[in-house]
Amino acid sequence: MTARTDEGTVPFRATLGRSVGLFSAFRREQTDPALFYGVLARDTVAQLRSYTPLDGRLVVDVGGGPGYFADELRAAGARCLCVDSDAAEMRLHGRDADAYGVQGSALDLPLRDGSVDVCFSSNVLEHVPDRTRMADEMVRVTRPGGLVYLSYTLWLSPWGGHETSPWHYLGGAYAAERFARRHGRRPKNDFGRTMYAAHAKEMLRWARGRADAYVVDVRPRYLPGWAKPVVHVPLLREIVTWNLLLVLRRR
Ligand SMILES: C[S@@+](CC[C@H](N)C(=O)[O-])C[C@H]1O[C@@H](n2cnc3c(N)ncnc32)[C@H](O)[C@@H]1O
Repeated sequence: MTARTDEGTVPFRATLGRSVGLFSAFRREQTDPALFYGVLARDTVAQLRSYTPLDGRLVVDVGGGPGYFADELRAAGARCLCVDSDAAEMRLHGRDADAYGVQGSALDLPLRDGSVDVCFSSNVLEHVPDRTRMADEMVRVTRPGGLVYLSYTLWLSPWGGHETSPWHYLGGAYAAERFARRHGRRPKNDFGRTMYAAHAKEMLRWARGRADAYVVDVRPRYLPGWAKPVVHVPLLREIVTWNLLLVLRRR
């Protein structure tokens, strides 16, 4: 039986084995996306449940794409709405997330102030040109006492350039041009157009500077629990953290 805390949250253990499993699945992203995104969504929802109960809660998945997370959130008892700016992304891998999503921008969420219990976003912040505006929007739509779960890939991490990695270390524009030359097409994650340099420092400052929300947790999303202190080490954190998870509670 799953252990539950008093508040209805469920403990989550970020073990080394769990990280190895995630990175193994990650290597199959291109060949078997359903497997990879299914593994990631189950892991993420289990992690989310350690911060907030989900049963009966209204969760918005900002930039939810084809809706793998939405499926898992629903399986956990949540009501889930996806907001994504790209209708084609919502139909990726033969899926049909627009059946329960709306097309809209993370920079101007089509939701009222304080209207959701949980505002969730995975791997979207590095795709918007104005990161703090997206994060502001996530806090705005969350009700007092509700939770914001915001995670994104750091630019200086080994996967910072996405499919143009590791050449992004020589510059995003160079990495994109190099990709275009070799593949005869622009990368899907095209620096300065659909992908931007997202750092930990900027968003940690944003999170700690808010008066209307407080920081519940900051951690490297995919790494074991013992790696958590790395988020406090300037520069090193930008490389090692890989994917930064910020969890805030709305006052
Ligand atoms: C890398 S995918 C992540 C999908 C999913 N959240 C995940 O973690 O698997 C980025 C998603 O963000 C969406 N996106 C990018 N810019 C956006 C914006 N300004 N507003 C809403 N969605 C956006 C894209 O359409 C895409 O579905």
